[in-house]
Amino acid sequence: MKKSFGFFLAAASLAVASLDVMAQAPAGEIPADMQALMSKYTCIACHRPNQRLVGPAYIDVAKKNYTNEQIVELIYNPKPANWPGYPPMAAMKQVPKDDALKLAAWINSLDGGAKKGAAKKKPAGKKA
Ligand code: HEC
Repeated sequence: MKKSFGFFLAAASLAVASLDVMAQAPAGEIPADMQALMSKYTCIACHRPNQRLVGPAYIDVAKKNYTNEQIVELIYNPKPANWPGYPPMAAMKQVPKDDALKLAAWINSLDGGAKKGAAKKKPAGKKA
């Protein structure tokens, strides 16, 4: 199931992305404050909200339903085994916890699609 889902995503994003991905500056969907953090800590070099780059699209990370804390932990101690087919991400321990949490909360807010984020929130029994 995971496999075909991944394939579907890959195929779907390829279809969309191949149209003009090379031509456009892909920063449009990133809120200014997140853009600033992503630039400051270089996440932007490898990640986009809805597009695979060196690393996975953040909406795909959001679909894993991590808590914000778990994402922070993964920023500090990436687990490449979670992302077969990607190179390993370097540990980003220089990111202060505050900022890592902001990024994590934003990444999680992308759950459910690239557009609104508020569309569905899973009550996971945690405050997030
Ligand atoms: C040099 C490229 C690169 C940079 C810079 C980078 N990442 Fe990644 N990131 C990756 C790759 C590749 C993966 C998938 C493989 C892995 O997790 O090791 C990944 C995975 C992730 C994941 C998913 C973790 C999981 O296990 O599900 C998150 C969240 C993430 N990155 C956030 C960030 C944030 C936030 C920053 C900036 C502080 C950042 N990344 C900087 C390449 C990068």
